[in-house]
Amino acid sequence: HDRQPIIAIDGPAGAGKSTVARQVAAKLGLVYLDTGAMYRAITWLVLQKGIALDDECAIAELANHCVIQLSPGKDLQTPVQVWINDTDVTQAIRTHEVTSKVSAIAAQSAVRQALLKLQQNWGKKGGLVAEGRDIGTQVFPDAEVKIFLTASVSERARRRQQDFQKQGQPEVSIEQLEKDIAERDRKDSTRKVSPLQKAADAVEIRTDGMSVSEVTEQIVDFYTNLR
Ligand code: CDP
Ligand code: CDP
Repeated sequence: HDRQPIIAIDGPAGAGKSTVARQVAAKLGLVYLDTGAMYRAITWLVLQKGIALDDECAIAELANHCVIQLSPGKDLQTPVQVWINDTDVTQAIRTHEVTSKVSAIAAQSAVRQALLKLQQNWGKKGGLVAEGRDIGTQVFPDAEVKIFLTASVSERARRRQQDFQKQGQPEVSIEQLEKDIAERDRKDSTRKVSPLQKAADAVEIRTDGMSVSEVTEQIVDFYTNLR
């Protein structure tokens, strides 16, 4: 068949999906797709327009008519560039405000339907490392490699705190980060539509105590053994 393989990476916040997916894509010469960035972009637009988070009609309308563009950063350190309706929101989608609201938007089925189409379009020809919450279960259920990345809440909070420090962002306590992460995990895994869930045929990698390159190598090995 003429479709290139797809690697699907799912898991909770801070498990290392973005970091590892980009490394794997770079190593294998595949395209990297950050689906969380799309949910963040819509959330940013909802907030910017002052639409109430529970106004599902207005949000559906927005999701069905917006144009989202993604462009992978030029190297592994440069974040994925994101535009919505021609506004560059690369930085704006990473604020605490967006992070704390995104799960409420991502739980709405009209939003998921609109983004699902976009994501599946990206994957038409395969050759993709896609990362999110429902890649192996909904977006690409036929993906050749499915990974479910996890780590303990305390480890994930520690990683987030280090990221904030590196970016020169204001200090957030570990306790607060653990609370925020656990709350987002809860919302993402208990929603009715496409909850965060390990696909039956996914391989789980518990990344506590593992380095980014160790995780990357494991996934590259799975892919290589396929061929
Ligand atoms: O990187 P981080 O784990 O903080 O989050 P993200 O991957 O940018 O995703 C942000 C939010 O988007 C998640 O908490 C989910 O609510 C939602 N999301 C989703 O529902 N389905 C996806 N495939 C990707 C993200
Ligand atoms: O996308 P997701 O929210 O799952 O995680 P991320 O945005 O990639 O953040 C993970 C952070 O933990 C990054 O700073 C990584 O360098 C670090 N990390 C990791 O991803 N994997 C490990 N095995 C160890 C650390």
